[in-house]
Amino acid sequence: MKPVKVGICGLGTVGGGTFNVLKRNAEEIARRAGRGIEVAQIAARRPNPKCETGATPITADIFDVANNPEIDVVIELIGGYTLAHELVLKAIENGKHVVTANKALIAVHGNEIFAKAREKGVIVAFEAAVAGGIPVIKAIREGLAGNRINWLAGIINGTGNFILTEMREKGRAFADVLKEAQALGYAEADPTFDVEGIDAAHKLTILASIAFGIPLQFDKAYTEGISQLTSADVNYAEALGYRIKHLGVARRTEAGIELRVHPTLIPADRLIANVNGVMNAVMVNGDAAGSTLFYGAGAGMEPTASSVVADLVDVVRAMTADPTNRVPHLAFQPDSLSDHPILPIGECESAYYLHIQAKDHPGVLAQVASILSERGINIESIMQKEAEEHDGLVPMILVTHRVKEARIDDAIAALEGLADVVGKVVRIRVEQLV
Ligand code: HSE
Repeated sequence: MKPVKVGICGLGTVGGGTFNVLKRNAEEIARRAGRGIEVAQIAARRPNPKCETGATPITADIFDVANNPEIDVVIELIGGYTLAHELVLKAIENGKHVVTANKALIAVHGNEIFAKAREKGVIVAFEAAVAGGIPVIKAIREGLAGNRINWLAGIINGTGNFILTEMREKGRAFADVLKEAQALGYAEADPTFDVEGIDAAHKLTILASIAFGIPLQFDKAYTEGISQLTSADVNYAEALGYRIKHLGVARRTEAGIELRVHPTLIPADRLIANVNGVMNAVMVNGDAAGSTLFYGAGAGMEPTASSVVADLVDVVRAMTADPTNRVPHLAFQPDSLSDHPILPIGECESAYYLHIQAKDHPGVLAQVASILSERGINIESIMQKEAEEHDGLVPMILVTHRVKEARIDDAIAALEGLADVVGKVVRIRVEQLV
């Protein structure tokens, strides 16, 4: 059988890795796919020194690939929402299958892209968009297809995890570690996407859709970054037996779906609490399988290429199948997507870590306790440290039981109104992940 012809758009880290893996493992890949896969064209503005492209034709214009009648599959690896969006729509319009690693594109424009792909009977595959080399989309979409998924929680931004790990293990400052992550090539072009949780929210949006069978709704995801975290809170969390991780959490409740990215205290003995450096991990809890954990490299040249090539193999295997018999883009049949709403953050529920700075006066702890008890907030543990030498303030650390966020907001406003409480109350959500 003739080889399938693919065009790679973008020859950066992932594009270069994809070319190299396709070349190095060509024989194994052909044995798996049932046909050879030939890179027939590359669109790149500049060569990649880590990639020997030989005689493969190279163009500077990505649309040459989308319009090339020889190409069966367009691999979009340019990133961003604008040109990538146009490129993918053009490829679909021209009847080509698409493989993409672009989480922002899928999270923001996925509903439109999948509808267009269905009209044209083509596949859009996006395993590499979430957690780099970890095949978590396939695991949720296919491997866990017998389950009703209850929740998932993931460390899905390597840069943020690297920063938190260095802060905890080496006591390094946030800004200093971020610079190193950028030099290592893990950070997004705009690193605020990493540290403010936007990149993780893109990925969480995708995971939630395939877990619960809901349309992609990135605009409803709650995001909170890690740039405000201090070493003091990292250390207090540690003393209480927790680790702070930047977690994406999607949970199904009767009222709706929680979709939130924020720093989170996790018991230090959970496997996921021990995922360090740039590594990623996703826990998925299903009613039949229970909790499962998927771990691996969340970014990087060949780990991400591994997912791109796996998608290519899937596309090659499925391209001759009747489109109605293919795995649906969002795991559930498109006419069976649910309209279960995404909950606003005030309606989400978790336990909370509160760090209060109080004047060293009698009765402050009693006032704090009464503000919480008046609102039905149950305290699970409390730790009060001796007054700090430099300002005489007493750090008071509390962990509450689970409660709706709106109620904690109200309690925090009342706490900050106390004459003996100084400055803002630090609030970090706590998840047990069982
Ligand atoms: N900036 C992302 C990360 C790259 O740090 O995880 C992979 O999506």
